[in-house]
Amino acid sequence: MTSFSWSAAPRPIVCLAPMAGVTDASFRQIIKRVAPQVVVYSEFLSTDALKFGAKKTLAMMHFDPALERPFIVQIFGKKPEHFVEAAKVVEQMGADGIDINMGCPAARVVSSSHGSALMKNPELAAQLVASTVKAVSIPVSVKTRLGWDSAENLIPFCEKLIESGASALAVHGRTFMQKFHGTADFEPIYELKRHVRVPVIGNGDIRSAADAVAKLGNLDGIMVGRATFGNPWVMTEICDALQRVDSEKMQTEHVKTFADKIPFIIEHCRFAVAHKGERRGMLEMRRHLASYVKGIPGAAELRAKLVRVESVEEVENILRSIPAL
Ligand SMILES: Cc1cc2nc3c(=O)[nH]c(=O)nc-3n(C[C@H](O)[C@H](O)[C@H](O)COP(=O)(O)O)c2cc1C
Repeated sequence: MTSFSWSAAPRPIVCLAPMAGVTDASFRQIIKRVAPQVVVYSEFLSTDALKFGAKKTLAMMHFDPALERPFIVQIFGKKPEHFVEAAKVVEQMGADGIDINMGCPAARVVSSSHGSALMKNPELAAQLVASTVKAVSIPVSVKTRLGWDSAENLIPFCEKLIESGASALAVHGRTFMQKFHGTADFEPIYELKRHVRVPVIGNGDIRSAADAVAKLGNLDGIMVGRATFGNPWVMTEICDALQRVDSEKMQTEHVKTFADKIPFIIEHCRFAVAHKGERRGMLEMRRHLASYVKGIPGAAELRAKLVRVESVEEVENILRSIPAL
């Protein structure tokens, strides 16, 4: 058993957002390598699949306890009895916490009454939290959005989840209807924090250390997703800036040359190969490699080579051939 607790976690809390197809063990490990204090989340995992022991889903939960704590496994579904079984599996494999997805806006998820659909069904949402909390001794949190089409129910919805035992809330500053359009609004999240006692983490459109400092407000922490694509170092900058809150230094420190980044990119590849084997690991690394070279001179040509790589050595040769930047 682990001793992670949301209320005792050092402030401000910085989280790597759960992202399906992205936040696998190798990505989490490279984030932890450059920003050790980050709380990392798994990709969302189906409670139905966990209950029935689906091999692929169980493999997605694999993590390295030496490199990835605190590690939160995010689960989704709609059947309380499946949450009970899934939560036990997650606890047994050594995760530090369980997060319930109540914010995914994907049509296929919502049409199955999972994810964001739970915001329209607060009774079931509360029941899922209560069943999960009862099944395990690790903390249970919820990641949600402002609401279905407005933020007017955010506070009562979250209060219900807290009454049912949720020990932290991560809130994305858009409604279900907004999907990823427009800009994230943190005002309703600040207002939520004024009403509740559990830690509240804000999420949405944090792209830099300056954004993180500007958006933290009265919150316990922030959660970052897309800004980490090809740029795990943004987490180093965010963690440091939130500790320091010194905007002058922020702009000059931590600016890495591409040559400085190469050893980390190679390490990311090695993590991927270690977890998934050379074939699958390198296949999945290709999209990260394309993100890593985004914006550098000759990126298009490099990308064309990197999306065909089959080994870490090949990546090394390509990256080391780039003239000093
Ligand atoms: C590729 C991708 C996959 C995502 N998968 C999940 C997921 O599995 N669970 C979840 O709660 N949110 C998921 N999200 C939403 C993110 O966790 C986060 O809320 C969103 O990206 C907004 O944060 P950002 O503006 O910092 O990227 C995903 C987002 C992206 C871009």
